[in-house]
Amino acid sequence: MMSKENQKGVSRIMEKPRVAVVGSGSWGFNHVRTFNNLNTCELIGVSDLNDNNLIRVRGQFPKLKTSKEYTDFTRSNDIDAIVVPSSAETHYEIAKDALVHGKHCLVEKPITLDIDEAQELVNLAKQKDLVLMVGHLLLYHGAVDFLKKLVDEKKIGDMLYLYSQRVNLGKVRSNENALWSFAPHDISIMLYLIDSKPIRVSATGQSFLQKKNNIHDVVFFTIYFENGTIATGQVSWLDPHKIRKFTIVGTKKMITFDDMEVREKIRIYDKGVDGWDVSYDSYAESMSIHDGDISIPKVVLTEPLKREDSHFIECIIDKKKPLTDGQNGLDVLKVLVAAQKSLDNYGKPEDIL
Ligand SMILES: NC(=O)c1ccc[n+]([C@@H]2O[C@H](COP(=O)([O-])OP(=O)(O)OC[C@H]3O[C@@H](n4cnc5c(N)ncnc54)[C@H](O)[C@@H]3O)[C@@H](O)[C@H]2O)c1
Repeated sequence: MMSKENQKGVSRIMEKPRVAVVGSGSWGFNHVRTFNNLNTCELIGVSDLNDNNLIRVRGQFPKLKTSKEYTDFTRSNDIDAIVVPSSAETHYEIAKDALVHGKHCLVEKPITLDIDEAQELVNLAKQKDLVLMVGHLLLYHGAVDFLKKLVDEKKIGDMLYLYSQRVNLGKVRSNENALWSFAPHDISIMLYLIDSKPIRVSATGQSFLQKKNNIHDVVFFTIYFENGTIATGQVSWLDPHKIRKFTIVGTKKMITFDDMEVREKIRIYDKGVDGWDVSYDSYAESMSIHDGDISIPKVVLTEPLKREDSHFIECIIDKKKPLTDGQNGLDVLKVLVAAQKSLDNYGKPEDIL
C-alpha cells in the first residue's frame, strides 16, 4: 500500500481512502450510493447547498456527515479524496480547493467551463502528485471497451467516420445548453476511439425554449480529425425519441452501439463497398458492394458508474493514471469550447486549440 503526506506532513497508509462527495443533486446522489457501497474506500461525508438534498442523504445513510460548507471536507485532515458532482460552473472552485488542500479529486464532466482553469487543475494535480479524474462515464461502459477493441484490432478495417445521437425529451437545463450537457459523453468516446488529433469543429443548433438566454436545445456538431476521419453528433432535449446510439463506418465493416437496447447493444454489419480505394479511371466500375451477415456479440456489462468510482479509488491506492484523467477532461473541454464558438457563429468551423 502507498503512503501519502497529509496537510500536516504526517504520513498515512492509504488502505481505504476516505471520501467526501460535494454535490448531491440528481446525479451526485448516485455517486453517494455507489461510493457508500464500495468496500475499497470509506465514504465519510456529503456536502450540498440544498437542505432537502442533505436530508435525503441523512435519511438513507444516517452514518454520513453532512455539511452545506464543502470546505469542511476539502480542508479536513480526515478526508483523502473529494468527488465533485456539483453544477458545472462550480467544478473549478471546488476541485481547486480540494487539490490545493492535498485531496485526490474526481470531478464530473465537463471538467470546468474554461480551458485555462482546467489546465490549472491539471498542473496542480501533477505538481502535488494527486489523482485528478473526470467523470467521462461512458468510457467505463463494457460496450465501449468492446468497440475500442474492435476498432484497435482493425476488425472494421480503417475507420472512415462515426456519428452519435443523444436525444430525448427533457430534462431541460437553464444553466447549460444541450451541447455542454450531453456532448461531453459523445466527444469523450470519439476521442477515445479515433486515434488521431481533433483539429477543427463546426456546430449548428437553435434555442427554442429559452430564446432570451440563448440556451440551445438542439445542436449538431462535426469534429474533423488530422487523419481525415470525421465524427458527427446530434444532441437534444427536445426530441420525440429517446436515442443513445453510435454508428461507426469502417472500410471493411460497420458497427452500431445502441445503448437503449437492454442486451443486444452492439451489432457488427459485414457491409461495405469494395474496390473504392484502388485507382481506376472509372471508380464506379471498380466498386462492388458486399452486404453480408449481421452479428451480435456477447458483451460483458457492469454498472459503468460502479466501474468509474472503483477505478478512481484504485488509481489512488495504486498510484495509477486514470483512464479519464484531467488531461482527458481538458481535451474534451477544448472541443466543447471550439464547438460553442462555432455555434455562436452559425457553424463557422473553429480550430481546436
Ligand atoms: N456522468 C454522467 O453521466 C452525468 C449525468 C448527469 C449529470 N452529470 C454531471 O453531474 C453534475 C451535476 O449534475 P446534476 O444533474 O446532479 O445537477 P443538479 O443541479 O441536480 O445537482 C447539482 C448539486 O450541486 C450542488 N452544489 C452546487 N454548488 C455547490 C457548492 N458550492 N457546495 C455544495 N454543493 C453545491 C447543488 O446544490 C445541487 O444539489 C454536472 O456537472 C453534470 O454535468 C454527469
